[in-house]
Amino acid sequence: MMELQRWLGPWLASLALVGCSEASPAGKSDSAGSDGATATSASGADGIAASDTAASGSGGSAVTTAGGSGTAAGATGGATASGSDGSTGATGQAASTAGMASTGATTNGDSTSTTSGGGGPSYATLREAAAAANRLIGAAVDAAALADAGAQYSETLAREFDYVTPENATKWGPLAPTSSSYDWQAADAIVDFAEGQQQAVKGHTFVWHEQTPSWVSTSMSASELNAALKSHIETTLARYRGRMRAWDVVNEAVDVDTASGYRESVFHQVLGPDYIADAFRWARAADPDVLLFYNEIGAERLGAKSDFMYAMIKELLDAGVPIDGIGLQSHVSTHRYPAEADLRANIRRFAELGLRVNISEVDARTKNVPGSQEARWLMERIAFQQVVGSCVVEPGCEAITFWGVTDNYSWINEEGEEDPLLFDRSYMRKPAYDGALDGFLGLLPVRGANLVSNSDFASGATGWAATAGELTVAAAEGGTGNAACVSGRSDAGDGLLQGDLLEALQSGGPLAFSAMLRVDAPSSVEAALLIVEGGEEREFNIASRAIAQDQWLELSGYLGLGFEQAPSAIGLKLYGPASGVELCATAVQLQPLTVD
Ligand code: XIL
Repeated sequence: MMELQRWLGPWLASLALVGCSEASPAGKSDSAGSDGATATSASGADGIAASDTAASGSGGSAVTTAGGSGTAAGATGGATASGSDGSTGATGQAASTAGMASTGATTNGDSTSTTSGGGGPSYATLREAAAAANRLIGAAVDAAALADAGAQYSETLAREFDYVTPENATKWGPLAPTSSSYDWQAADAIVDFAEGQQQAVKGHTFVWHEQTPSWVSTSMSASELNAALKSHIETTLARYRGRMRAWDVVNEAVDVDTASGYRESVFHQVLGPDYIADAFRWARAADPDVLLFYNEIGAERLGAKSDFMYAMIKELLDAGVPIDGIGLQSHVSTHRYPAEADLRANIRRFAELGLRVNISEVDARTKNVPGSQEARWLMERIAFQQVVGSCVVEPGCEAITFWGVTDNYSWINEEGEEDPLLFDRSYMRKPAYDGALDGFLGLLPVRGANLVSNSDFASGATGWAATAGELTVAAAEGGTGNAACVSGRSDAGDGLLQGDLLEALQSGGPLAFSAMLRVDAPSSVEAALLIVEGGEEREFNIASRAIAQDQWLELSGYLGLGFEQAPSAIGLKLYGPASGVELCATAVQLQPLTVD
């Protein structure tokens, strides 16, 4: 308990805690997770902010430029591509720590690119900006909002977006309320509207564990359920043949908390995992021209869930299953979300399978970071700029769809007014809109100076301590510069602590965290901020991943920091491996994320 306060005294007395081997209390925090640090998406278990652990480095250190080689947007359907090469000129910087593998993207943000306001190209609408970047810009459309919300809704939708996903109208339940009838009205209205505005349409979704008709149940036999699903896919594809660009065929089939790794949906329970391949095969046979997607929630970061999804998709492709693309939903929380390096490495590995990658359901929870609306909206702007920018600088990413148009109509608001979208309740452009525009220019959020002092241990252990065990600083084994290592750890919660971050972090705001870590046995590693507020210490987990043995690997994450009351101490702790495993670190960075 109270780890930070425990170490603060020695700190203020300016003790250099080298070689500290004093025993520490069991390294548990008193409130880990309760503050929403690992908040999940509204659908529950596995939003983007879930603390999946990650696979060891998926390689690829080059950072690509945005532009011409991207998967062509609008190849089928009515999307408009500008015909330009779409180049936006943003070139990231390669990982900076020589000799150390990383997840393969920028570790610093000293981008020299211009901003939309700084003399570079500027666009009047997202639609124009996306077309110039050779990407599609999408929105989920609620049929009732389209019918009832008035002209501002439809005008905004038409002006700003060239790709439309029915938010609910093309799900199986809404389409087929009984086993012998279809209600096409809401879906038709959306498709008709989109055609009138030269917008491409993605149908969503044939197979999902939610919004399945009530007559589809585990009391059906395998042959009955197979026949019903096949017929549904064939009937729906026949109705919209030539009018849809793409379909999400299967949605959210992965659940890494089950023994099998597959979600225990009615489909999995009755049919086993074969329903996934079958659904894609039936869809291809029914409509050879429409693009077929697999869509997933909470699989944006490198981690257990995206690793399972990657292995599953690869296996399906190897077996000849017709899958054209994948969607990473990206329901983010500004509190904690994958760093650019992580998201981009994930996009890249799916693209390298020859798949189109869509960022398919972007919105942002903003309320879980305390602070003013201005501060929350700035964090949202940076989050959206990062997600859009990451898609634009990765050639395999062809589309970004927001899960709604205006904060007036969002499923996220069912749990409180989260302000999750690009337009406010009066259809005014929010800062988030400018973030998306900058993202389409290929501009990623800019990282400021590192707030962690002695971050590479050039001054020995000054400013650092071990919460238990022994801290030594020496030349990084297999790397460059110095590293700090903690040996003799007695608990997974023990590790390396920098306790003196109050001054640097007390104003909060959006931050990028990264560190290079090395362990002497395969481990899960974590980073957390320890924050003392009103005499209570809370632990805010900001990044976690699995790492292999004896390799320098990057742990990274983006976070939004805010406080209920002024903090009296802030520290950073690196920990996670089982007791006895040696944990080494260097290049520890916490950098403010800013808008140029
Ligand atoms: C949501 C809709 O936005 C809500 O209106 C509905 O009540 C539930 O579904 N992942 C998906 C989407 O793939 O279909 C979900 O949409 C959000 C999570």
